[in-house]
Amino acid sequence: MTAQKGKFITFEGGEGAGKTTQIQLLKDHLQSKGIDVITTREPGGTPGAEDVRDLLKNGDLSKWDGTAEALLLYAARHDHVEKIIKPALHKGTWVLCDRFSDSSLVYQGVARDLGVEKITQLHEWALGNFYPDLTFVFDIPPQKSRSRQQQRNQQADIPDDRFEQLAIDFHQKIYEGYISLTKLFPDRCVLIDATRNVHEVKEQIHSNI
Ligand code: TYD
Repeated sequence: MTAQKGKFITFEGGEGAGKTTQIQLLKDHLQSKGIDVITTREPGGTPGAEDVRDLLKNGDLSKWDGTAEALLLYAARHDHVEKIIKPALHKGTWVLCDRFSDSSLVYQGVARDLGVEKITQLHEWALGNFYPDLTFVFDIPPQKSRSRQQQRNQQADIPDDRFEQLAIDFHQKIYEGYISLTKLFPDRCVLIDATRNVHEVKEQIHSNI
């Protein structure tokens, strides 16, 4: 295969941090500059990976432990990378992805206590050295993001999913995990102050492109 020409950008952070809005705004911005761009998400992005998303998100919290979650996530991620992400990048299309491997590092590696090393080994086994070119980490205190998320679910009249059912101390671990992550990968991770308004967050993101 020819060398990758597009740019792979991922968006990370706790629940309700405002990633979806900013992904759409960045997509519009890039398209206005004539860049081909697709948006996608994890878990998901292919029919098979969307099936895995349903398995992971729905049902009882005790349905899967951290190891089972990590294996399901990497099965979905492998399918997504091979069928959608890599082919797009090779064509020169930019890919904006809502969550990727850093979610596994933080949710399963840190918050579910599997360890960053185990997730890194799984990543290398499933995907080799394939990582995002740039990752925006949305920084927002867990209490604030959690209340945004709950509001959204109430408005849409949908119950909390498996991950949203987890207690606030789990979300605190996720928050701290993301802060450590940006220190672990300073070359590709940019911390975004997601407590600011939509316009200010957009400015922070677009100035890093
Ligand atoms: P989603 O509704 O997409 O969450 P959000 O809107 O907050 O991005 O649900 C995805 C859930 O899956 C989210 O709670 C985080 C979790 N997750 C992991 O635990 N590990 C992973 O590797 C990924 C990609 C997601």
